[in-house]
Amino acid sequence: MRVTCTVNGRPCVADNVWEGESLLYVLRERLGLPGSKNACEQGECGSCTIRMDGDLVCACLVAAGQAEGADLRTVEGLAGEDGALAPVQRAFLDAGAVQCGFCTPGLLMATEELLERVPEPSDADIREALSGNLCRCTGYEHIMDAVRLAAARRTAVEGRPA
Ligand code: FES
Ligand code: FES
Repeated sequence: MRVTCTVNGRPCVADNVWEGESLLYVLRERLGLPGSKNACEQGECGSCTIRMDGDLVCACLVAAGQAEGADLRTVEGLAGEDGALAPVQRAFLDAGAVQCGFCTPGLLMATEELLERVPEPSDADIREALSGNLCRCTGYEHIMDAVRLAAARRTAVEGRPA
């Protein structure tokens, strides 16, 4: 089958997609977007987290056909056209929250979604938002720092929410 969707603002078409194929496979292997990582393929680790029509989903659990007509955003869509890092990416780097990087794409997507919803998150909000994303390398303190830093910078630039 053919799957037509929008990925990071660009129209995309994947042909010869098998009905049982996951959206993660389509993104990585057919559309050349390997940023979303395949770590467990069972919805357990969050490494494949993307936005689908704005919602966070584990791309490994989404059947390719479900993405027909969807508006998808992957980690490749965070940086600017000129390659400039997005604020959440810069915050993860600055806070030392990135090591092997398997978990990082999913954490970035979850953080971006959290900060859109809750511009000034509490630690409990952050833990809740990232509870579906596992990191085996850094421990979570640097990741918490990164989200706090991203939130603080965002608030400094955009002003406090009303
Ligand atoms: S690869 Fe999708 S949740 Fe782990
Ligand atoms: S940096 Fe390696 S799993 Fe998170």
